[in-house]
Amino acid sequence: MRPLISLLMLVIVLSTYGQKFLHLALTPPMGWNSWNRFGCEINEKVIRETANAMVSSGMKSNGYEYIVIDDCWQTSRDSLGFIQADPQKFPSGIKALADYIHSKGLKFGIYSCAGRETCGNRPGSRGHEFQDALSYASFGVDFLKLDWCNSDGQNAVESYTLMRDALQSAGRPVVFSMCEWGLSKPWKWASGVGQLWRTTGDIQNNWNIPDAKEGKCWGGGVVINLDMQQGLEKYAGPGHWNDPDMLEVGNGGLTESESRSHFSLWCMLAAPLFAGNDLANMDKVTREILTNKELIAIDQDPMGKQGFKIKDYGELEIYYKPLQNGDAAICVFNRYDQSVNVELDWKDFDLRAIKMDKPLKMVANIDRKDIRLDGLFEVFDLWKEQKLGITSQILKVELLGHDVAVYKLTKK
Ligand code: GLA
Repeated sequence: MRPLISLLMLVIVLSTYGQKFLHLALTPPMGWNSWNRFGCEINEKVIRETANAMVSSGMKSNGYEYIVIDDCWQTSRDSLGFIQADPQKFPSGIKALADYIHSKGLKFGIYSCAGRETCGNRPGSRGHEFQDALSYASFGVDFLKLDWCNSDGQNAVESYTLMRDALQSAGRPVVFSMCEWGLSKPWKWASGVGQLWRTTGDIQNNWNIPDAKEGKCWGGGVVINLDMQQGLEKYAGPGHWNDPDMLEVGNGGLTESESRSHFSLWCMLAAPLFAGNDLANMDKVTREILTNKELIAIDQDPMGKQGFKIKDYGELEIYYKPLQNGDAAICVFNRYDQSVNVELDWKDFDLRAIKMDKPLKMVANIDRKDIRLDGLFEVFDLWKEQKLGITSQILKVELLGHDVAVYKLTKK
C-alpha cells in the first residue's frame, strides 16, 4: 500500500509543477537578447538602458517582453558551487537587475550552457543544474537560454530534460530556450522539454554566407537560416517553437529591403522574435520594422501555425501561413539582387513575371498543390498598409531586390 501512496503523491506533485509550465509561450516569445549586438561587452548599464528603450520605443506596447542577457554575465562559482555574476559588469547583482526589469513591466531572461563551460568559457551548468535553477528562481528569472558548447560526450535529450526538471522543481515558471543548434533534430523530441529550440547555427549579421553548413556553430546569414526551416513547420505550435535564431535587424549588415524581408519571413515562420540590436540607439527605419503591428500579429496568431514555402520559382518564392478564422498570410519574396515586376494569380498562387528575359520556372518538388484558398478574400498589404481588392483579381506587384510583399487575406 505504502509504495502506491508514495507513487500517487509523486504524480500529484509532478503534475502540480507541470501545470505552472503548461501556459508558457502559447505564442512565439518576443523580446531582446544582448548577443548579436553586444557579444561579451555587456554590463548592467547597457541592460538597464535597453529595458528603458524597450518601453520608450514602443516595443513593449507591441508585445516585446523579455530582456535576455546572453553569455559573459558570469565569472565563477563560490565555494558552495553557486554561480557568481561578474562584479565589474554587474556590481549591483543580477537580482537587482531583474527587479529593475520587472519594475518596467518586462520579464527577465538569462543564459547558461548545458556543457561544462559556455561558448565564452564561463562556467556552464553541467553538474549544477538544480543549483543553478534555484539561483535563477531567487534572481527572478523568467526565461533561460541553455547553450551547447563544451558538451562532448553528453546526450542532448538527457541534458536538456535534466535542466527542464531542475527548472520545474525550483518552482518558478521559466520559458526554456534550447540552443543546441539543431544538431540532434530537437523538433523531433523537444516539445514538452523546452518551449523553443534553435534549428540552426548562429545567424550572422549578413544576407548570405554561401558556404555555411547545417549544424556549424558559426552559422550562416539570413537566407541560410531561412532555408533550413522548410519542412519543420509541422513541429511548431503553441508552447513549442522552432527558433531560426535572433534578429539582425538594425545591426548594419542588411539593407532596408533585407531587414524588411528578414523580419517578415521570421513572422511568417511564427519564429520567436528577439531583437538583437542596440535598442537605445536605433534609427527610425529599424524601429518601424521591428514594431510593424500587422506583421507582429501574423507572428503571434493564436493558432500558432508556422508558415512555409508553397511556390518556388528559384529566386522568387511564395510563403503561406494559415491564420485563425480561416484567414491567411502570404509573403512574396524576391531573392534576385534587382527589382522584379510580377503578377500574382491567387487561384493557384501562380506568379508570372512581367518584363523578364526568361519566364519563371517552378522548382517542381516544392509546389504545394494542396494549398488552395477556400472562397473569396480581401487582400491587405501589410507594409504599404493598403487594401488591394479581392482574390478574384490578379495582383500586380513590384518587388525591390531582396525585398518582400506581405499580404493578409481576410475571408469575405
Ligand atoms: C552560441 C549561441 C549564440 C550565443 C553564443 C554565446 O554560439 O548559439 O546564440 O549564445 O553561443 O557565446
